[in-house]
Amino acid sequence: MKLTIFAATGGIGRQLLEQAVAAGHDVTAVARNPRDLVAAATRVVTADLASADAAALQPAVEGADAVLSALGARTRADAGVAARGTKAITQAMRAAGVRRIIVVSAAPIGTVPSPGRPHPPRHDPGDGLVVRYLADPIVKRMLREHYADLARMEDMLRGSDLDWTAVRPPRLTDKPVTGRYRTAYGQNIRRGLFISRADVAHYMLWALDQPATFQQTVGIAG
Ligand SMILES: NC(=O)c1ccc[n+]([C@@H]2O[C@H](COP(=O)([O-])OP(=O)(O)OC[C@H]3O[C@@H](n4cnc5c(N)ncnc54)[C@H](OP(=O)(O)O)[C@@H]3O)[C@@H](O)[C@H]2O)c1
Repeated sequence: MKLTIFAATGGIGRQLLEQAVAAGHDVTAVARNPRDLVAAATRVVTADLASADAAALQPAVEGADAVLSALGARTRADAGVAARGTKAITQAMRAAGVRRIIVVSAAPIGTVPSPGRPHPPRHDPGDGLVVRYLADPIVKRMLREHYADLARMEDMLRGSDLDWTAVRPPRLTDKPVTGRYRTAYGQNIRRGLFISRADVAHYMLWALDQPATFQQTVGIAG
């Protein structure tokens, strides 16, 4: 397939790039620091997604069968980049006639209020008592801005007419790819506290041509 990978220099992004190239896909890698790319893409596009507009991104998605994005704020200075950058990406996709996009969100987002979902469920049905009453409140306080950004990104996709999938992993690790993980539509995975970046990328590449994953959030865990 012809794929465009945004944030191809991040933990998941590098895995997406390596695994997609190894699988023989024709890959356009988009990065703000292309020197940090770890595998040889067919094409490299430089873009800072905090400021890029749709017109600037259109050449990167033109002719793609699908777009994969592992974009997320690395530092406080990047706050808001997931929603802003993904909006520009989807506008560029619409202009180029590309419909399929898979992005990385996070496990707690199903219960984070946002302008599009001001009253989400109080608890995710996949979360056990420890996550609901101990881990979730702490992590949500620590990563408030980051999660608000991801929730707005999901809002934007939900309101779009694209074939989107938002993958919601729990804590990420750098363990190798296994291809063995559990997934669930619209909810987290019971006792699923970790997954490797490599396995998230593995799932995203698998889901590319799976219509059952369109317009879905997907809980995933090892
Ligand atoms: N850490 C966890 O345990 C965890 C758990 C659940 C979900 N998540 C979500 O998963 C996402 C991906 O995880 P990860 O480990 O792959 O993250 P990461 O290594 O921090 O990668 C973030 C990527 O976003 C890019 N980026 C950030 N701001 C940008 C900008 N203004 N313009 C262009 N690119 C920009 C980074 O580019 P540079 O390489 O140039 O910085 C990098 O490629 C996270 O951002 C988070 O939202 C994380």
